[in-house]
Formats: sequence, structure tokens, C-alpha cells
Amino acid sequence: MKVTKKLFGADGATLFVIENDHGLILEVTNFGARIVRFLVPTKTGELVNIVLGFDDEESYRQYDTYFGATIGRVAGRLAKGQYQGQAGVQHFDQNEGPNTLHGGANSFEVKRWETEIIEKPSEVTVIFSYRSPDGENGFKGNLKAKVAYTFNNQDEWRLDYEAETDQETLYNPTNHAYFNLSGSLSQPIDAHLLYVAADRYGVIDEESLPTGELRAVTGTAFDFTDESGRFLHDGFSQSDQQIALVSGYDHPFALSAPSIETCQARLTNEASGITLEMRTDSPAVVIYTTNIGEKEFPMFGETVSHHSGITLETQVLPDAINHQGFGTIKLEAGETFKATTVFSIK
Ligand code: BGC
Repeated sequence: MKVTKKLFGADGATLFVIENDHGLILEVTNFGARIVRFLVPTKTGELVNIVLGFDDEESYRQYDTYFGATIGRVAGRLAKGQYQGQAGVQHFDQNEGPNTLHGGANSFEVKRWETEIIEKPSEVTVIFSYRSPDGENGFKGNLKAKVAYTFNNQDEWRLDYEAETDQETLYNPTNHAYFNLSGSLSQPIDAHLLYVAADRYGVIDEESLPTGELRAVTGTAFDFTDESGRFLHDGFSQSDQQIALVSGYDHPFALSAPSIETCQARLTNEASGITLEMRTDSPAVVIYTTNIGEKEFPMFGETVSHHSGITLETQVLPDAINHQGFGTIKLEAGETFKATTVFSIK
């Protein structure tokens, strides 16, 4: 294992380049506690990057700060940017119409996180820490947030989240990596096979807010329960009102039996021979297929467009505070939040 540090843009952010003994490379930065690139071999041995990202901090700020970032305090949308807590109604920064998306504007994804590196013979960990002050974007409590990224010789990228607060608050972090296993970020992800161990998915409305209904996936474009995978283009081409609403997938899936021991989702590109497996102890995964319409982004010399990437955002179901049976995202003073997700190359 080897870890080196580089400057990441002109503003002083750092890029950590971690290489394992098989030559796979994970690049992460303290700007947004973010994954920047993940270089893995194709079946012919060529090293290719499988995550969407940019060359420096400035480009993320120019184009989109969510790519690869840690999202917090609350991933997804909070309806009407508010919550009725013990201490009355809390109002959050409304950065998408009346709603709060990904913790409000200028949240975790643009913070410069503190870092600590732990080197062991078969793994390297970068621990990112950020202290979110009481009242930031309307969220109560001084929150000490941590996410540890470990890259190891099993070709695994492991994300361990931890947090503490001094007052009751809401907390539901995730990571916003967009994957494309084809070896070329400009290729759509249509020909990727996807397996998701989820029997139900969350129905959304015109504002992309969950309606509260968890619908059975059986017989729908949301059925990815076949372990051998289903082509994403198969789902895209279904005449499903939920797919049409957002031109692809932008939906939460309720995992049937979340566990860090068993595969919860698998993405495969047969042409490159690359397979990515996800395990998590979080109860849900939001799958977003980069539904960006006419938009385009320059990335590492390629042009990324509609359906160029797919996210597997592990978390508690979005807008949980407003829906019965969606789980809890409350974090009380004295409690420690913990969640773990592993992405492994097979
Ligand atoms: C959301 C999308 C949103 C995107 C922003 C995803 O997590 O579900 O609706 O457009 O993040 O990058």
C-alpha cells in the first residue's frame, strides 16, 4: 500500500492518492470528503477510471459540487425545508424550490474537511472530520461528523461514518459517487447490469419528493432482484410513469435485508469485465442515473452527458421525518451515529 499527497487546485485542497498492492488507485480529497477517481483494471488489464469527477476544486465549483462528495447533514430532500422537533419547528435552507436538498446550499460537499491518515500493511485509511456548527443551514446542535475512507488489498473502498451532536438533530449522510464501469465516462451506463436486493422502492412526486408509498418492485422497471443483473436500458425503456417523471432512476430502494456481510447491489459492465459490489448496513439506497437532459460536463478529457453515471447512495430512506415506516434520522445528544458501506471490485 502506498499513499501520496498532491495539491488539488489553486485553493490549497489536497488530493490523496492511495495505491494498493494490485495497482488499483483510489483518489480522494479533503474538499467535500470526496472520491475523485477510482482506477481499476479491465479484463484486458488496462487501468481505467470508474467514477465521474473533475481535475480540481475549481472545476467542481464551476460545474457541480455533488460529484463524489459526502452529503450531509441530510441526504435527499426534506419537504418544505422544515421539521417539527421537540423544540418547535426547525427551518432549513431551502435550496430547491421550497425544499431542502442534500442539507441545503454550501453544505458538507464544499467544506474543507480535516484529515488524518492511518497506514497499515494491507490498508490505508483517510479519516475526514468536519465540525458543523449549531444552526448551520438551520440544523440544530454542534455536530462532529466523521467519515473514514479505507482502501485495502481486497480491492475494497470502505466508508465508515460516525457522528455526535450536543442537541437533538437530524442526520442522514451519504456519499454521492457516480459510477461508470465501461472504461469511458462519456458512454451511457445503459449496458450495465444491475442487481439490487430490494423488494420495494419509494414512489416520488413531481418535486422528486417521496410520496410515502413503498411499492413492490415485482413486475416493474424497479425490479433488479435477479442476482444475475438486469440491463439498465431494459428499465429505461419501460413505459413506467415513475421513470418518465425524472427521465431515468432517481428513487430510493428499501433494502430487504441490509448487511455489511452480504451483497446489497452489484453493477457489472460485461465489455470491460468490471464488477462493483456494494454492501451496507444502511436500510436504503438511492439510485440516481445522472438524469441531466441536455447538460454536459467536461471530465478528465471526456464529455459526460445524460445517463453517464449511476449512484448508489446508501442512507435511511429520504424525507424519513415526514413518512411513517421510513425509519429514523434523529440523532440525540450523547448518541453516536454509525453506518458503514463497502464498495468492492470483483
Ligand atoms: C438526487 C437528484 C439530484 C442529484 C444532484 C441526487 O441524490 O436524488 O435528484 O438531482 O442528487 O446531484
